Formats: sequence, C-alpha cells, structure tokens
Amino acid sequence: MLQRWRREGRRLVMTTAYDAVTARIADSVVDITLVGDSVGNVCLGFDNTLPVSMAMMNHHLEAVARTRPRTLLVADMPFLSFHLGIEETIRNAGGFLQRGAAAVKLEGGAKRIEIVRALVDCEIPVMGHLGLTPQSVNVMGGFKVQGRSADDALRLLDDAYRLQEAGCFALVLEGIPAELAARATETLEIPTIGIGAGSGCSGQVLVFHDVLGLTRVHRPKFVRAYTDGFQLLQDALSHWAADVRSGAFPRSQESYRLPEALAEPIANWAPPSVKA
Ligand code: KIV
Repeated sequence: MLQRWRREGRRLVMTTAYDAVTARIADSVVDITLVGDSVGNVCLGFDNTLPVSMAMMNHHLEAVARTRPRTLLVADMPFLSFHLGIEETIRNAGGFLQRGAAAVKLEGGAKRIEIVRALVDCEIPVMGHLGLTPQSVNVMGGFKVQGRSADDALRLLDDAYRLQEAGCFALVLEGIPAELAARATETLEIPTIGIGAGSGCSGQVLVFHDVLGLTRVHRPKFVRAYTDGFQLLQDALSHWAADVRSGAFPRSQESYRLPEALAEPIANWAPPSVKA
C-alpha cells in the first residue's frame, strides 16, 4: 500500500505513540503509527534510547495495540534486540507482530542486511532506518548530522539500496542533508520517511510529543511544534488546582446524591461507642 501511495505522490505521515491516549489521537490523523524506542527519552526519562529493553517496548506496544489502530502499526526494535543472533531477532520481532504490530523498524545499514533478509523470510515486514541512528550515538560522537562527507553520503545511498533489495518496505532517513535524502528517494522504489532530512522524502515523521510541544528539552531545528502543549496542559491543570483550592470544584452537578429517604438516617448516624 505504501508503495502505491508513493507512486500516487501521496506524502506519508508518521508519528509516534507510546500509550492508548497518544495512539487514539495519532490514529485519527496519520498514516503510520510508530511505537518508537524514543519512548525512552520522551516518556521514561532516559538521556537516550540505549536503556530501552524489549520488555519496555512490549509494554508500550501492547497499550497502543489495544486501541486497535487503523493506521499501519510499526514497532521499533530496541538496542540489543537484533544484535545477538538471527534466532533471537526473529523471536523479538515475531513477538511484536503477535502483540499487534504490522511491521518492525530497525536501525542500521550494510551490517543489518542478513537480519533484514531473515525477518522478511519469516513474513515480518521491516522498515529500515539510516543516517542519524540514535542507537549509534556513541560511535557517532553525539547526535550529529550524518552523510556530510563523500564517503558517508555514498555509503548511505549504497546502504539504502541494499536495504531495499534485502526486502525493507520503507526507510526512515534521519538527520542527513536534504539533497542526499532527495537523491536516495529518487533512486529507490520504496518510500522514504524523513526526519531532519528535508522535503524531498516520500513522507515525514516527527515524535508526537515534539509536534505538540509537550517536551521541555532542547529541540533540534527540524522539529516544528504546532502548539505549546506543555503550557496548554499546565494552564488547564493550574486552573483545576485553583478551583480545588477555592472550593469551586466540584460543583453540585459534578457530585452524586443520596436518595432523599436516606438523608435522615445518615444525618442521625453516630460513631458506635468502642469498648476498651
Ligand atoms: O524512535 C523513534 O521515535 C524513531 C523516529 C523518530 C523515527 O525512531
């Protein structure tokens, strides 16, 4: 379906969801919902995605899957879930599908070709992820734009093609120059979904909490927040807290009432005398 959309020139929209609330909001708007390992830094308070485990991902995927999304539900393979052998990778990815995902996403290029082939052979659709891959933060020396040297740029184009040939149905391109992402997109048959990769991709992805301005951490320049969700929610919560403190909450319409016949026995009730 994604390849058809690509041929039709329809730009794909993907965002993240980590629980039932965000999943329901996203599902009414986007084409692809990603239970991203970004849950680690966005929701769980980690500095990066490396501490995110399969158990954490399964927990969040199950919450999202219970909402029965109509969008394509993709689950992100966390660090170390696809590095320790093909059998374990298939078990982890297959477990995602058993929990309701329709596909998995994993980071990396040439080194992942064998794994991608093995997953696709097991009927597990795979979305690739190239460029600034957050799980490689330690080898990249930080969260830095990738593909700026000739070697890196050509390697990325090569990796993108090889991932497509290995069976990936789409590719996330993150944190790379716009021209490079555009070139990858025009040379591939599968759709590319960009994040910090310019407008020449087949679609775009942003983290849900970033689009809604819910985070208060440093925002990279490719993030456009469409509202100040943090302020909006904080204002609403403060309003409620003020109403509680002033006695304006709850109103009588917001309270349950006893039947009138019980008013007298309740008013006449006294604590039983307690024998020593
Ligand atoms: O984990 C995530 O949210 C991602 C997207 C930003 C592509 O990998």
